[in-house]
Amino acid sequence: MQKKAKLILTEAKEAFEKSPTTKLLYDLKVKYLGKQGLFSELMKGLGKLSKEDRPQVGKEVNIVKNELESAYQVRLQQLDDLEMNKKLQTEHLDLTLPGPDAPRGNQHPLTQTMQEIVGILSKIGFTVRTGPLIETDWYNFEALNIPKDHPARDMQDTFYIDDTHVLRTHTSPVQIHTMQDEKPPIRILSPGSVFRCDADVTHSPNFYQIEGLLIDKDVSMAHLKGTISFFVKQYFGTKIKTRFRPSFFPFTEPSAEVDCSCPQCNGKGCRICSHTGWIEIGGSGLVHPNVIKSAGLDSDEFTGYAFGFGVERMAMIKYGVDDIRLFNENDVRFLGQFN
Ligand code: PHE
Repeated sequence: MQKKAKLILTEAKEAFEKSPTTKLLYDLKVKYLGKQGLFSELMKGLGKLSKEDRPQVGKEVNIVKNELESAYQVRLQQLDDLEMNKKLQTEHLDLTLPGPDAPRGNQHPLTQTMQEIVGILSKIGFTVRTGPLIETDWYNFEALNIPKDHPARDMQDTFYIDDTHVLRTHTSPVQIHTMQDEKPPIRILSPGSVFRCDADVTHSPNFYQIEGLLIDKDVSMAHLKGTISFFVKQYFGTKIKTRFRPSFFPFTEPSAEVDCSCPQCNGKGCRICSHTGWIEIGGSGLVHPNVIKSAGLDSDEFTGYAFGFGVERMAMIKYGVDDIRLFNENDVRFLGQFN
């Protein structure tokens, strides 16, 4: 048996040596060393030997088998080296070629819109101030001159957390926080999430507003109009006009709704502006004396204006988006267009 093993070894070694490729070498490995290979076949003969002879013969045959395995490894290394050298000589790698394109994300259109609005108004001295998303009834309503049972509470369908806490329905409570913390003159912007129990093509239960507040002495509607007209021209384009419509908010007096001429059709009338040529972008007015008082400031000394714009609305108008839900669906085909 040992002799037979040696014969196989000599034959296999020679075959390995002659094998020109790793692929053929592998086939030879299977032939000699595989589970059904010649060596395994030979090992079956061990069972026919006497108990005394078996260990010694087995040991010797194993040594031969190990020798064959290392012969295989040596040849494999040789062939690998040869194949690599050949590749290096024939194939050229251009390390200066640009790599494959990695897909790049971009900021969410609403983030971009808020940053753009902040960017414009920061040029005229506004700084950013944020407030909590969960407010007490007092900050969200009462301090803003909306007493309990006031019909104005119905203007905003509120998510109540408990008897005294709500998810803020607008960014206006930040007006109160700011007046409590800072001394006039105050000039702040407050972008952020707000919540209302409302959902359709143009309303989302969670949307964004950007609040503006200026508190100083002798502030008038003219200041408010000047600021908003400046902003609209900067944001939508110099041709876009601003219009103020008398309105009502409990926290401003007088109050005005702000419209701009439709940037999609230049005021001619289209689907985006419901064929009126004008689009509403938010509410505004002079801060009600009760609001200034409830924040702890002297309403005889200080006056101010405030405005609140819908961020989705601004983006929809500027880019001609007709469904507010697109902003929350996270579809990269939509989001990627704002790159
Ligand atoms: N808070 C009002 C709203 O959400 C908007 C507004 C802000 C109006 C500031 C006037 C002044 O509808």
